[in-house]
Formats: sequence, structure tokens, C-alpha cells
Amino acid sequence: MPQLLMNLGENSYDIVIEKGALNRIAELIPLNRKVLVVTDRGVPAEYSKKILSKCAYPFLIKLKPGEESKSPKKYLYILKKMIEFGFDRHDCVVAVGGGVIGDLAGFAAATYMRGIDFYNVPTTLLSQVDSSVGGKTAIDFEGYKNIVGSFYQPKKVIIDPDVLKTLEKRQFACGMAEIIKMFATYDRDSFDKLYSNKKMPVEELIERALKVKIDVVSKDEKESGLRRVLNFGHTVGHAIESVSACTSSPLLHGECVAVGMLCMSGGDAKKQIKTLLERYNLPTSYKCSKESLVSVLAHDKKSKKDTVSVVKVNKIGSFEIIEETHNKIISDCKGVLTLL
Ligand code: GLY
Repeated sequence: MPQLLMNLGENSYDIVIEKGALNRIAELIPLNRKVLVVTDRGVPAEYSKKILSKCAYPFLIKLKPGEESKSPKKYLYILKKMIEFGFDRHDCVVAVGGGVIGDLAGFAAATYMRGIDFYNVPTTLLSQVDSSVGGKTAIDFEGYKNIVGSFYQPKKVIIDPDVLKTLEKRQFACGMAEIIKMFATYDRDSFDKLYSNKKMPVEELIERALKVKIDVVSKDEKESGLRRVLNFGHTVGHAIESVSACTSSPLLHGECVAVGMLCMSGGDAKKQIKTLLERYNLPTSYKCSKESLVSVLAHDKKSKKDTVSVVKVNKIGSFEIIEETHNKIISDCKGVLTLL
């Protein structure tokens, strides 16, 4: 099984992709210290138990699943517990869950005593191929997603594809949306292989997507340019996510990114991306009010005055990053979004 290296100088770390890795966790993480496992109630408890049973001094925090947990309240709760448990600089935090848990636990680890060791054990396909790697940690505040956070690299990322057996189909598809994002913008060979329906085992998909992520992050850790490519589909996607959160049938993050990617692609690339999204039962259109969409777009923290930085794909395996006005973004969405 592959072990990939995120090469970031003194902040470099290994990414282990291995079926059954959770069963040999004690060989992968030094657990002879206080270990705080942060997880949520949606993650099968057996995954945390496998880790906790190997720790010399185990501690567990189990949160409510969902984006609401990425709050100042839950962040302060974790810090309070670490003080109460007597954590010091030599102890560590292990996130066991999806992107929300990784972002929140990572931010707590990044800031407690100016930073203690952080390990990520992602349990969704989306977090395995994207959010667990690259050091973005954050919480939401005052209605802004990820507005308070830091770049704080984990000490190691441990990906056990066996955990995907318990993942709901809809959540699996969300991970596929992020994989399609990586391939469409940056890796034509992998896109073509997936498109031509060649069977790709999930471990290979994870490895190929992570190779894209590693290449991008190692060239631009702090997102001053190239790393923005990973936001393909996310500007409109985040806006749809906020709008849909207030409806009776909210879409999941990856589903919003799927629709967002179609809005920002053109020509044959758009057709090919759509074919792949449909194959994984991801949405390819969305209906909402124009007013609500524009109002959340204007709230985007990537906004500079009335323009937003967007990633466009007109040819698979390549991309352009440009500044667009809200009106231009809305007009790009024609044929994908029905704005009432
Ligand atoms: N998920 C986007 C990034 O890591 O930059």
C-alpha cells in the first residue's frame, strides 16, 4: 500500500493509504501519551475505539454531526476539556471523522499551547481525498464559513479505505465530486481513465487524487495562487450550500460543488464533467431564488469588493483563475441554475 509524502520542509508528513490501517494504529501514531480523539456520533464508534484501546491515556470527545459543530462554542469546549484533562505540549489530538471534525480538531490542536501534535484519520471519501491533507483548519463565525482558522499541518494522515464500507452512498458520491474536481483541473490522464469507465479501485482513486493535492499544496501551501485551483466549483458551490441549508432538502457539500463545477466549466469539458457527475448520481442542476444566491455570493470571504476569484475549466486537465463580478458569475450559471 502506498505511503505518500507531503513535502513541506520541516512540516513534511506521511500520508498512509492502507486497508486495515486502523488495526495497526499503534505502529503509525506514538500513543504513549495523552491522546484526545475527537469524533462525531455519525461515525461508527468502532473506529475511535480501535484507537482509544491502544492509547496509554485515552480521552474522547464525541460531537453532534454536521457543520454546526464547527463553532466557537465547540472549539472552546475542546480547549476547556484539554485543560481539564491536563494536556501539555507533548500530548496529541486525533481527528476521526469527516471534514468538519478534521477542521475543528485541527484548529484546536493548532492553537492549544501554540500547537500540539495533530493526526488525522479521515473516515469519509471527501475528507480522505481532500480536506484531511494540506493543513487547512478552521471554524465558522458570524455566518462566515472557515473565517477563523490557521494553516497547521498534521503530523500524519492515516487513510483506511476499509472505513468506506460503512459510508452512505450519498456521502461516497460527495467524495467523487472532489475527485472529479482534482482530475478535471489538473490530471487529464486520471480523468480520461475514469471517464472511459476503466475500473479503478477506490485506493487508486484516493492515491491519484492525493497526488494532485500534494503537488498543488507543496507548491503553494498558503494559497497565494495555485492552491486556489482546489476551489473549482466551490464559489458557486458554497453559495448553493448556504441557500439550500435554509430549505427542507439541503444538499451536501460535494453535491453543491458538483453543480458549482458545471457552472464554471465550458465546451467539451462541461459535457464530460456532467457525464461523470451523472454516473455518480450527483446533481447537475439547481433551482433557487436569484436574490438569495447573490446575497450569499457577496458574503464570500474570497470577495474583493464586488468581484470574486473563480476557477474556470474549458479543457480537461487545465484551468484558469480569474476575477469575476457577481453578475458575471450569475450569467455563467445559465443552463445549470434555474434562478427564480
Ligand atoms: N480543500 C481545498 C484546499 O485544501 O485548499
